Amino acid sequence: MPKIKIAPSILSANQDKLQEEINEIEDYSDLLQVDVMDNKFVPNITPQAELLKKFDTKVPLDIHLMVKEPSDDYIMSFIDANSKLKINNITVHQEACPNLKKTLKFIKNNDIKASVAINPKTPLNKIKEVLDYVDMVLIMTVVPGFSGQKFIEDCMDKVKELRKLKPNLEIEVDGGVNDKTAPIAVKAGANVLVVSSFIFKAEDKVGAINKILESVKQNI
Ligand code: DX5
Repeated sequence: MPKIKIAPSILSANQDKLQEEINEIEDYSDLLQVDVMDNKFVPNITPQAELLKKFDTKVPLDIHLMVKEPSDDYIMSFIDANSKLKINNITVHQEACPNLKKTLKFIKNNDIKASVAINPKTPLNKIKEVLDYVDMVLIMTVVPGFSGQKFIEDCMDKVKELRKLKPNLEIEVDGGVNDKTAPIAVKAGANVLVVSSFIFKAEDKVGAINKILESVKQNI
């Protein structure tokens, strides 16, 4: 079994106690996902790059841009936002980028890993031409926009196909991941699990992370 990485998404963290909540889980997190929404690509909005000024962490960030046509300047605003933070990767959506390869190239030229996300209805062949180029693929397991939705198990067909095509690629899933669905995703071939409400709505956040890891160990 590959090492499973846990990427808590701060979307459903208590934004008034954001730093406190991040402190609580950072020793147990491999990446920290920052969800960014523009009310165009998805029907919800979050703070933009200024969000990165509101907290500090030693955990490398996984920035998930659910944003229509992110320009180079827009991407740069995240890279420049807070020099104390380390950005591991920036994810853009295939559906949102008219020139996907160029956008991914821009990210990589800034020494940041580039990742591409696809929505539940988007077939894998839409990203086949960039597969040799990206460091990670995010297979969305909910329609993006909100935390707390149900895991769409049909998306596992794409995870399985992608794992066969790319045995060493980082494959991330995001949406509805909990102790029941995590083993399903890992069995299919995912190795990075984004989790928001199951962690941040739990009384014991570290306990929730351990519950996922334990369940994966027991069930695959
Ligand atoms: C989906 C976001 C997810 C979301 C996951 O719109 O990209 O990161 O916060 O939340 P949970 O884990 O609650 O489904």
